[in-house]
Amino acid sequence: MLTKKIAGILDLHVDMTAQEIESMLEQPPQPEMGDVAFPCFLLAKSLKKSPAIIAAELAASIQESGITAVATGPYVNFFFQRSTAAEAIFAQLSQPGFGKLSIGEGKKVVIDMSSPNIAKPFGVGHLRSTVIGAALYRMYEIAGYSVENVNHLGDWGTQFGKQIAAYKRWGDDAKLAKEPIKESLNLYVKFHDEEEDDQTLSQEAREWFRKLEQGDEEATRLWNYFVKISMQEFDRMYKRLGVDFDHVLGESFYIDKTAGIVTKLQESGLLIESDEALVVPLEEEGMPPCLIIKQDGTTIYPTRDLATAFYRREVMGADEILYVVGAEQKLHFQQVFAVLRKLGESWAEDCIHVPFGLMKFEGRKMSTRRGKVVFLEEVLDEAVQRAHKIINLKNPNLPNAEEVAEQVGIGAIVFGDLKNHRLNEVDFSLEEALSFEGETGPYVQYAYARIQSLLTKAQEILPQGNARSYIALDKISISDAAWHLLKHLSRYPEYLEKAIRLKEPSVLARYVIDTAQLFNRLYHQERILDGEPQELEYKLYIAQVTGERIHQILTLLGVKTPERM
Ligand code: ARG
Repeated sequence: MLTKKIAGILDLHVDMTAQEIESMLEQPPQPEMGDVAFPCFLLAKSLKKSPAIIAAELAASIQESGITAVATGPYVNFFFQRSTAAEAIFAQLSQPGFGKLSIGEGKKVVIDMSSPNIAKPFGVGHLRSTVIGAALYRMYEIAGYSVENVNHLGDWGTQFGKQIAAYKRWGDDAKLAKEPIKESLNLYVKFHDEEEDDQTLSQEAREWFRKLEQGDEEATRLWNYFVKISMQEFDRMYKRLGVDFDHVLGESFYIDKTAGIVTKLQESGLLIESDEALVVPLEEEGMPPCLIIKQDGTTIYPTRDLATAFYRREVMGADEILYVVGAEQKLHFQQVFAVLRKLGESWAEDCIHVPFGLMKFEGRKMSTRRGKVVFLEEVLDEAVQRAHKIINLKNPNLPNAEEVAEQVGIGAIVFGDLKNHRLNEVDFSLEEALSFEGETGPYVQYAYARIQSLLTKAQEILPQGNARSYIALDKISISDAAWHLLKHLSRYPEYLEKAIRLKEPSVLARYVIDTAQLFNRLYHQERILDGEPQELEYKLYIAQVTGERIHQILTLLGVKTPERM
């Protein structure tokens, strides 16, 4: 808002559009240097003057009430008269549409997220996909898009032949019922161990998968059983993470749609035979060929993703399709999108892989094959337990400590993931993520709870019970701490817009950390609950709008906001 105002003023003096000017405006590195800065370098050429002279002339010609323009070298630095600007910021923050955007209106986006594999553990990669995907979902929604998410379960492929073969040999229903995924994994690991010495096993597995593809009754029943017990376990985790799905459509859903893809590719003359398999060559695109049909005649991951993309576009009506999947699948998506382009599908440009980096838990990596796996549920439980201990120490009388521990423990993991640039590799430390100090979920949650406690106390002090949204500020001197916080709050729409444009929840996570830090600085420097009624009301109003912002952002990110902790 402040930059818009300055851009409007400069527009009268400079031969550029207000938009161009706005994009050039900077936040001075030190607050003493002003609130907004305009660099004059770019004007030097057309005006044939040095940037410093241009800055001096501009500063001299700008006469605006409530704003001081000062030339410092090649920059014009602008200072706002704080109480006037603060009134405008308060008005801006109390608008009902503040914190919403309309960039997505009339557009539908489908988000492919989470997408774990049946009968295998919910990996850390799936956790990142779930957490990042769910944040993007809410961000797109608030930007006006119509959003649907799909859990693209890995529920098809030759591994189900192996799973059934292993089950037929060593399966134990009691164990499977008790710990479905652990036991499925044990079977899978045992299969791979024994397969080396026992060739008949691989044959059995192939046979079972063939039966499954042909709709054999027993194979289908066992497959359904594996899907069901895995989903029960996944659903438990989704519930704790607060994630819902509009569609759960696994790869198996597209099996009967792959024949149409093969026909399309054949008719377009894109499919060639290579080593008894059918592939789409992508040499011109600088990629290895995309495998469509394997030697044994079965479809494969890319074939199903091609069918899936058409379904999302043609049946779901997606204008944009996001695939929130680890960076290690980059080539896969490049190939799938390249094949779509070769088919002449212009919407291939709106299929976007949103990759993310690896995450390790205290240095431990995931590896399904060798069975050395970090189980997500164990990580969640441990986080909650530790949160409980911390809360018991900090606030032994908290009545709903258990509920808060769940919100803080899970919140710490979600926030600890989202605060990182999604492409960065993350070595996750629970201890760090749970700390109440530092750039953590609990730190931000605590700032929110502190604000709620201030507002509760205020009800006893303020005559009308709460702070009003319009306050005359002319008699109030606005401190540096309050001013920095207010300026920061007024810039929220820029950050939201940037976070969506970059598909980067970390922009919001960083913004909310700064918000909490700026508020805490104010809190420690000034007694919020002291002062003349008008001043008191003004400080409480800042607390209130800060609380609203923290609440909105944490909710977008999928982190709960306990009122007390
Ligand atoms: N199930 C896959 C895996 O765990 C992820 C699927 C991602 N989505 C997709 N449309 N390919 O690696």
